[in-house]
Amino acid sequence: MNYQDLVNEAFAASQNAYTPYSHFAVGACVLLKNGKTVHGCNIENAAYGSTMCAERNAIFASYCQGYRKDDIIALAIVANCSPLVSPCGACRQVLSELLDPHTPIILGCKEYYEVTNMEELLPRMFIGESL
Ligand code: THU
Repeated sequence: MNYQDLVNEAFAASQNAYTPYSHFAVGACVLLKNGKTVHGCNIENAAYGSTMCAERNAIFASYCQGYRKDDIIALAIVANCSPLVSPCGACRQVLSELLDPHTPIILGCKEYYEVTNMEELLPRMFIGESL
């Protein structure tokens, strides 16, 4: 699966977003080394702080299925917006622990995508080895 396919898959995931408050649907898709994909989308709540972002749902779902960072090839995060959607601070902290710092993260919209990683998105990250 190439990055464009992964972006398309993440847009498919965004179809299940539950966004009655923001009306901003986000999709995410983890690509695993075994060729499988794991979807995530944002699920909002009337208590806004209880909302869960698409990328955290996708990475948590992957871990819930028993996969770990070494099993992951890439993560796509998509939304129909400009500039490209970019993970919030909480997601950056979570992803910095659950993804290898060099695992490609594809940020996409309908027209194009860019490839980054956690090292770029969260420099000098706080990780378990710091404890
Ligand atoms: N959101 C995500 O799911 N991922 C991001 O990377 C950015 C923000 C969601 C949270 C909320 O449901 C909506 O987008 C507006 O912030």
